[in-house]
Amino acid sequence: MSEPLLEVDDLTVQYQTDDGMLTATSNASFSISDGEFFGLAGESGSGKSTLAKAIIGGLDDNGQVSSGTIKYRGEEIQDLSDKELSQRIRWKEISWIPQGAMSSLDPLQRVSEQALEIGNVHTDLPDEEIRDKLKETFDIVGLQESRIDDYPHQFSGGMQQRAIIALALFLEPELVIADEPTTALDVIMQDQIFKHLDRLKDELDVSLLLITHDISVIFESCDSVAIMHASQIAERGTTNAVHANPRHPYAFMFKEAFPDIREPKRELEVIEGHPPELMGEVDFCSFADRCPWAAPECREGAPPTESAGDDDPSHVTACVRREEAYELYQSDTSPVDDGSSAQSIAQTGEGD
Ligand SMILES: Nc1ncnc2c1ncn2[C@@H]1O[C@H](COP(=O)(O)OP(=O)(O)O)[C@@H](O)[C@H]1O
Ligand SMILES: [Mg+2]
Repeated sequence: MSEPLLEVDDLTVQYQTDDGMLTATSNASFSISDGEFFGLAGESGSGKSTLAKAIIGGLDDNGQVSSGTIKYRGEEIQDLSDKELSQRIRWKEISWIPQGAMSSLDPLQRVSEQALEIGNVHTDLPDEEIRDKLKETFDIVGLQESRIDDYPHQFSGGMQQRAIIALALFLEPELVIADEPTTALDVIMQDQIFKHLDRLKDELDVSLLLITHDISVIFESCDSVAIMHASQIAERGTTNAVHANPRHPYAFMFKEAFPDIREPKRELEVIEGHPPELMGEVDFCSFADRCPWAAPECREGAPPTESAGDDDPSHVTACVRREEAYELYQSDTSPVDDGSSAQSIAQTGEGD
């Protein structure tokens, strides 16, 4: 088998805070192959953006990769200097559309000028070639080539977002990391963007790490998915396997918190509470305090990542109670209350 394009292995990322070390990503592992669309899902505060920033070397000053590795085409990149990352990796190999990038276009510069700035820093290409590349990419994202010299305010919101995607793509990176690229857009504009993402796959053979709190978007557009809760990857596998057989309680509850065109009549779940902020080592399941099926063993060590037990060898889950929990959930039995899950507060829709 060929080497994965990106391989994140046992990655822990922490932030120095006044209260000590906050762990935003704990022992996370996943890989992305050439041409693969990989979705990273989870509620706000789960550590998704932290993971993206760690990959591209864009962590806030108080953040650090504490352990684990990030390999790009087999080379460890987590310790590269900012200069090396900028010269060799950013934009040309891995481009990043940060969360909230809607406002990242400079209102005072034409889009083409912004592309020239990026191109001149990261490549030796002549300006005319940079402009040509931007034109081609505008076409792919559904913008007229002639509009590369427009100012951002001449575009609608959806067009601005597509211009941002074009800027992430025009230097032909191998991997695009898009962090909540459509969150600020309405549903129609979201659809337009995702239609263009499909074209990326067909025409550019680029890989995508798509980060979103809305798992329905990932089920519609990605090949594989990882579901993250409070620093830990709860479950990952091919999108089909995770959609058909979610095993981690967070995975099936989170999945059912969103509408799904494949199950239009289903009621939406509500997962009470929020992902906790975690200090120090996360040597327990970070979902235990919200999980209706939590037992004492869930707090006795970080849950190992193990096969989900279906046909997909890449489908793994990190829940020590994955069998029982799923059966209980499916049989609609009331949550176990053995006194250990003092904060078992998730409402699973009983009584409806
Ligand atoms: N610079 C920072 N300093 C301290 N804590 C941070 C910093 N950035 C993010 N965090 C914390 O890290 C956790 C994960 O945040 P983030 O990666 O933004 O999650 P997500 O993208 O899933 O919403 C949260 O608890 C957040 O408050
Ligand atoms: Mg985020």
